Amino acid sequence: MRKIIVTGGAGFIGSNFIFYMLERHPEDRIICLDKLTYAGNLSTLAPVMDNPRFRFVRADICDRAAVNQLFQEEKPDIVVNFAAESHVDRSILNPDIFLQTNIIGTAVLMDACREYGAARFHQVSTDEVYGDLPLDRPDLLFTEETPIHTSSPYSSSKASADLLSLAYYRTYGLPVTISRCSNNYGPYQFPEKLIPLMIANALNDRPLPVYGEGLNVRDWLYVEDHCLAIDRILEKGRIGEVYNIGGHNEMKNIDIVRLICRELGKPESLISYVADRRGHDLRYAIDPEKIHRELGWLPETKFAEGIRKTICWYLDNRTWWEEIVSGEYQEYYKKMYGKTDEEMQ
Ligand code: NAD
Ligand code: DAU
Repeated sequence: MRKIIVTGGAGFIGSNFIFYMLERHPEDRIICLDKLTYAGNLSTLAPVMDNPRFRFVRADICDRAAVNQLFQEEKPDIVVNFAAESHVDRSILNPDIFLQTNIIGTAVLMDACREYGAARFHQVSTDEVYGDLPLDRPDLLFTEETPIHTSSPYSSSKASADLLSLAYYRTYGLPVTISRCSNNYGPYQFPEKLIPLMIANALNDRPLPVYGEGLNVRDWLYVEDHCLAIDRILEKGRIGEVYNIGGHNEMKNIDIVRLICRELGKPESLISYVADRRGHDLRYAIDPEKIHRELGWLPETKFAEGIRKTICWYLDNRTWWEEIVSGEYQEYYKKMYGKTDEEMQ
């Protein structure tokens, strides 16, 4: 039996990972450590709360005493660190919390791994650490050798955590692995991110705010394929290595928004071009050759199927997202887009 601490498990990818692991590995015990920020929802984890192989602990990864106490109690074999402030636009509005959680929090977790002898620390990172690629060079892709070259406070904080993880590996021999994944989509994603935001607004016949001309390109991966890749890395990944994760599925933002309109039967007149994101990365594109060659990983879900499943999920789970787009989110929305979500109607 492996004991696995999953931080940030009440968020989008972390919760999907917990569901995946409990189902695929009936011998594992999963302990979720989450602060429950605006992005974390305990209701998401309701289906596994009574599972005897699951435990939820509310704590901040920056809180050394709380983290050490949990490690003392559980003596985990593996720690998978999803906990992070994850939204680029919020990092532009207020970088401070990104530095705290994403950098200091990662260091606190790694110190606890050293102290209590975890056999693996896996850092969930992002393709954004590589910066961006030009739009007119489709031949260029991010490999694990691409230099770190960040654009936003968010990506800089993630890159810092990556460098710190590699330093703990080299200096202290901590058994670290790192994965750098492209944009995820799927169930339980907070509706501040492109795909769920557009689905939620379209369903409410509200404007669909596209930054700039909508020509920026992202490389989209269904969330379950990301979970599968991390599972492979935990089982067979080489210590001290970085693995890129992506599915060669590049799309322009505007094409995604148009597709969502089509799938929902909504008019494209809802599309509203708004001011561009500051420092907006033009294009991300992952070369996943290393994880394919070494670990045999390939994505299983095609975009056409994944986006339909995702749209259906948001249609079937309206209460999940309607409840969380209140309060703090309305204030954020006003700061970000000039009007509250409700005022935009
Ligand atoms: P999310 O914002 O949906 O969830 C983050 C979770 O972390 C929430 O449950 C939140 O409560 C928790 N959290 C935040 N600060 C914390 C703290 N100080 N202590 C404990 N818990 C805390 O994020 P996500 O989209 O699921 O991303 C998860 C991870 O994957 C992040 O590290 C992100 O950088 C990385 N990533 C995300 C994507 C993507 O497309 N979403 C792609 C590549 C990598
Ligand atoms: O590439 C991996 C990264 O993907 C992760 O590390 C981040 O945690 C995750 O948030 C995501 O970052 P992006 O900035 O690419 O995702 P976001 O959904 O915020 O935006 C996707 C694209 O859509 C981006 O080019 C900006 C654009 N966009 C976004 C929003 C929220 C809009 O045009 N309008 C919007 O309202």
